[in-house]
Formats: sequence, structure tokens, C-alpha cells
Amino acid sequence: MSQEFTLRAFRGEDLNRVMAINFECLPENYSSSFYRELYGRFPETFIVAEADSDIQGYIMCRIERGFSKLRSLSPARLMHVVSIAVREQYRRRGIAKFLMLEAMKKGSAFYEASECYLEVRVGNDPAIGLYERLGFAKTKRNYGYYLDGEDAWVMSFAIPGKGKLQ
Ligand code: ACO
Ligand code: ZN
Repeated sequence: MSQEFTLRAFRGEDLNRVMAINFECLPENYSSSFYRELYGRFPETFIVAEADSDIQGYIMCRIERGFSKLRSLSPARLMHVVSIAVREQYRRRGIAKFLMLEAMKKGSAFYEASECYLEVRVGNDPAIGLYERLGFAKTKRNYGYYLDGEDAWVMSFAIPGKGKLQ
């Protein structure tokens, strides 16, 4: 197994593979039409990671108009990370970190997103570790957010200006 990986834009023919990875890695699963809608509206921030000649991880996002979660009462264009996952055998080599950084660069450049946010299970230490490492802060706790009753942290990050993302 090679340590190398590359990122590229999602394409329609990747859908089954991405859905299988989501199913394997997360209890939150979605219909194919949900993926297609996100891809149709925000293709630039739907990105896959390839290693060993196959897709091993993905990120998909939605751009939303709303209020900043970091500065009160400031309208902002937010990039919402709807789902990110990397197959177990390919973890801890930086794939998720690069997927996040690339999606934020694209979200800022193509959709003018100034802030990124997501929900994560309060017990999901690997994912919380990833987001904290990138500079995200816990901005809210959503009680009973998940279907099984677990709480979510909302975590947020101000996307640095052009060229300033590490
Ligand atoms: N424990 C602690 N910190 C971790 C862990 C871990 N298990 N995994 C990653 N991190 C942190 C570390 O700081 C790491 O840097 P380091 O390896 O230099 O110490 C940093 O995050 C970057 O890690 P990556 O290698 O980029 O992360 P990876 O590619 O392994 O993917 C992910 C992380 C996506 C959370 C993976 O574990 C996964 O797919 N988990 C199951 C699915 C999931 O939980 N997805 C997120 C749900 S929330 C949402 O989708 C919005
Ligand atoms: Zn969400």
C-alpha cells in the first residue's frame, strides 16, 4: 500500500464508490439524490481522494447564507461540511486534512465563503482532533442532534484570506 494520495474533483461516476465509503465509515447515510443535488449546486467543494488507484475518501459541502458563528450578528456566507470520511486503512496520513484545506480554498475562491462549520458527534475524538488541529473551535452544543440521541458539537473556523490557508 502506497502512502501517496491525490485529490481531484468528484465526478458523477464516482457516486457509488463515495456512497459505499460513507456507509462503511458513518451512521449518517444519504440518498443518491441528496449527493447529486449537492454536486449539482456546489461541484467545486465535492472532492475525492485517490490512493492505490481508487477513491479512499471524500468531502462534500453546502454553501449557505446565514450568520457568522464566530462574530455575533454578522451575516456571512458559510461553507457547511456535510460529510467527510476516509476509509480506515488509509487514515492518519493527512488525507482528511488535505480534503478540508482544499475544500475551504475552493469554497472561498468559488463561492466566497468566509467561514466553515460542521456538526460532529461529541464522542468522535478522531474527527474533533482533526478539526482542532485545523484551528476550528467548538461554538455550540446541539443536544440530542443525532437520531440515536448523541449530542453534536458545532465547530467553526474563519477561512483565512486568499493564499493564507497553510
Ligand atoms: N485521534 C486523534 N487525532 C486524530 C485522529 C485520531 N484518531 N485522526 C486524526 N486526528 C487529527 C490529528 O491531529 C491528525 O494529525 P497527525 O496525524 O499529524 O497527528 C490530524 O487530525 C489529521 O489527520 P488525517 O490523517 O488528515 O485524518 P484522516 O485522514 O485519518 O481522517 C477522519 C480523519 C475523517 C475523522 C477519519 O477518522 C474518518 O473517516 N472517521 C470516520 C468518519 C467520520 O467520523 N467523519 C467525520 C464525521 S463529522 C462530519 O462529517 C462533518
Ligand atoms: Zn451538518
